[in-house]
Amino acid sequence: MYEIEYVSGALGAIIHGVDLDRPLERKEIDFLKTAINDFEVVFFRDQPINPKSHVRFARYFGVPQLHEAYGNLNGYPEITILENNLANPSKIEAWHSDMTFRRCPPSGSVLHGLIIPERGGDTMFASMSAAFEGLSDKMRSFLSGLTAVHDFSYGFKESINEPGGRERLNEMIQNNPPVEHPVIRTHPESGKKGIFVNSLFTLEIKDMKQRESSSLLRFLCEHLTLPEFTCRFKWETDSVAFWDNRITQHKPVNDYWPSERLMHRVTIEDGRPPI
Ligand SMILES: [Fe+2]
Repeated sequence: MYEIEYVSGALGAIIHGVDLDRPLERKEIDFLKTAINDFEVVFFRDQPINPKSHVRFARYFGVPQLHEAYGNLNGYPEITILENNLANPSKIEAWHSDMTFRRCPPSGSVLHGLIIPERGGDTMFASMSAAFEGLSDKMRSFLSGLTAVHDFSYGFKESINEPGGRERLNEMIQNNPPVEHPVIRTHPESGKKGIFVNSLFTLEIKDMKQRESSSLLRFLCEHLTLPEFTCRFKWETDSVAFWDNRITQHKPVNDYWPSERLMHRVTIEDGRPPI
């Protein structure tokens, strides 16, 4: 039914032969659920989906987050507009999984590319299960008993330190006190184990001396971005990426400024905290 084009050894597959602009059949949804569990991030080409189709596709995999704030598509609180251009360069550089500062971080995101720069603007993904498998048995069992602290204020420290930043983000800071997650989490569907610390939001490892914690985090964040654990996706207009946020990290490659890049994103809630 579908043709699968592998993107790298560790993760990622482009799935050909599906039309996301129409409702999918049960067997198609089941196929895609198996594919996302296997490949951790899946991509589609030539999908000129409208916002309704975008939200419908995300709903097959969970409940979309709602955003009432500025930056959302008119009439579609589920769709966040990500727009970068001359006046608004992309700021996020670090490898991360999304919103790990929350007790229940999102399970995934569906990103639709609308305006893609002629050169640059790829997204990199890393498999946290491959990164975990790439550690020694000793290191895996050592990490499996550890807990890490994730913090919104740590992730957004640069924005907070801008003039007026703390006032602007005060509500987010108040609503997002630091949270704890296991350093190694188990994916609830595939059963795969993956590293669950990231350089953007993970503040420290609990019950360790500060030097131990920062050395271990530095090692893990370097380890999990080794080329062997990653793939790189080159966007085209109407490409769609769907990543599992529980078992991957991603990094936007900011090499296209001042070109324009416009994406629509739907983020899928996960009602369960990581275990
Ligand atoms: Fe992200």
